[in-house]
Amino acid sequence: MLTVDPERPDGDQIRRAAAVLKRGGLVAFPTETVYGLGADAYNAEAVARIYRVKGRPPSDPIIVHVLGTADLQAVAASLPPIATTLAEAFWPGPLTLVVPRAPRIPAVISGGLDSVAVRAPSHPVSRALLAAAGRPVAAPSANAFGHTSPTTADHVIADLGDKIDMVIDAGHTPVGIESTVLDVRRMPPVVLRPGGVTMGELGRVVAGVVLAEPEKRSERPRSPGLLARHYAPQAALILVTGRDADVRQAVVLAAGLLEDKAIGLILSDEDVAALPPLPSNIEVRSLGRSTDRAAVAHQLYDALRKLDAAGVAVIIARDFGTRGLALAVHDRLTRAAVGRQVRVLPQNPAAAAREIVARAT
Ligand code: TXA
Ligand code: MG
Repeated sequence: MLTVDPERPDGDQIRRAAAVLKRGGLVAFPTETVYGLGADAYNAEAVARIYRVKGRPPSDPIIVHVLGTADLQAVAASLPPIATTLAEAFWPGPLTLVVPRAPRIPAVISGGLDSVAVRAPSHPVSRALLAAAGRPVAAPSANAFGHTSPTTADHVIADLGDKIDMVIDAGHTPVGIESTVLDVRRMPPVVLRPGGVTMGELGRVVAGVVLAEPEKRSERPRSPGLLARHYAPQAALILVTGRDADVRQAVVLAAGLLEDKAIGLILSDEDVAALPPLPSNIEVRSLGRSTDRAAVAHQLYDALRKLDAAGVAVIIARDFGTRGLALAVHDRLTRAAVGRQVRVLPQNPAAAAREIVARAT
């Protein structure tokens, strides 16, 4: 484990990490979104090891990280003009572009697809590491497959500590939720995974960007990481939508009915301020003010992991809507809930509470 300053990482430490990558090792490092598990993108053996240590199916493609637009040519077989426009607008930053894959990028990175996903991270530590390595770095999120993404080095250690060569610790990642994955091989481009760059921000640069429909199980997934059961904590998660006051009432009623179970609640600051005193089987985590969507995205994964660590059997999470960064939060909570979604109808929190209890038992 190397500990570095997130803004000004020590050059010697970064060179040590880059040397591990260059000889085919695996290095977990912070990006502005989440921690990635890096390997030399030109080394098919090293990339294959990423899949093994994560327990990730070989069909689930990995993102290639580069320093900037100038490196797109090395990774892409051809460049749709919109790819360059978007890269110039949002790089470095949390936007991943799916483009045709250059022959030099091994097929194993893309799970055999003829495309490749590429992004330029903005975190000073990722950038220093990419510069020192002098080559593209393949990196999925540094968690065990299907688990929530790591936003701290401790999360990485908990999932993969004994299986990888190095972890660079630079504290909590600033954005806290993964990049937006955008397929630019078609027009208008399609968002395969909502993330750190919002639909509104994309819309200011290219008109008509659409959000991919949820995958049908029968289809060959367009983006295999979009499979339903994903981003999941160990506890069963129930996602509750509705008007604020109704959601609060339903959650409090349900928690009361579930008194024999350890329950975790994921709420907003406003919710917490409005709650009555709760029994001791209930552990509450606020993600911040519900209108502060950056704070909510930043806190989400750590809150899920803390509730897992507290040993709760059930997590009841409020929905934070779909505006701005909340869309990515909504997407991850929906996947973690694997169909356990409850809508509270106006004036009927009791019925919703019974539904929550039924889903929890
Ligand atoms: O913010 C992020 O994107 C983080 C940091 C480390 O950069 N990385 C990350 O990687 O979240 P991962 O592997 O956990 O998720 C990559 C997503 C998956 O949903 C995957 O299916 C999709 O990108 N993806 C990768 N290559 C693709 C391709 N060629 N075509 C379609 N989707 C692709
Ligand atoms: Mg992931």
